[in-house]
Amino acid sequence: MKKTIIIQGSPRRNGNTERACRYINEGIAGQFSVTLLNLYEKHVERCRGCRICMKNKGCAITNDDFASLWSKIIESDVILQAAPVYWYSPPGLMKDFIDRTHAVLPIRDCLAGKTGFIVTVAADAGFEYSERIMASWIEYYGGTVDKKIRLWARESDDLEKLPSNISAMDEMIETLKQVG
Ligand SMILES: Cc1cc2nc3c(=O)[nH]c(=O)nc-3n(C[C@H](O)[C@H](O)[C@H](O)COP(=O)(O)O)c2cc1C
Repeated sequence: MKKTIIIQGSPRRNGNTERACRYINEGIAGQFSVTLLNLYEKHVERCRGCRICMKNKGCAITNDDFASLWSKIIESDVILQAAPVYWYSPPGLMKDFIDRTHAVLPIRDCLAGKTGFIVTVAADAGFEYSERIMASWIEYYGGTVDKKIRLWARESDDLEKLPSNISAMDEMIETLKQVG
């Protein structure tokens, strides 16, 4: 059974992004072994830009959850990243995680063979920029991004009101099942 990690990057508990992740999780649960990880429950410190990782091939920050999170990613076949759009980019919670992936820079191709999926949630605009940021680290490390979906929602209970959101999530589930 292939392994999937879902990295949920909205700070809003039970918000649109978290519910989208649960919906997709339920859709693929029989076929994948899934870990749904809410970043708001994890302690991931901000990259300090010290670049010690370039010399010692490891991050100078060791007293947080990043290393265990990264090992879950390395164990997974599929990486699904989901986040709302905040000012045309992922929220700081997700960006802090992405910045920390800089620490594995000397280990090129460490995500080769893994497939990425991206879910962005926004009220009106900024999907494309946010998607590019979220795809960047996966592609940099040799993974491929298979499918991206855009969900439209503003208030915390908006997600399920738009039938096009449901069909976009169903399409993603179908694509994921083909990978599995
Ligand atoms: C700080 C902040 C910035 C936002 N910036 C944008 C934006 O640039 N474009 C947009 O369409 N929506 C923006 N939104 C709206 C959110 O993307 C929207 O409310 C989304 O449904 C939140 O998802 P969540 O319920 O999973 O947290 C912003 C919301 C916040 C709180």
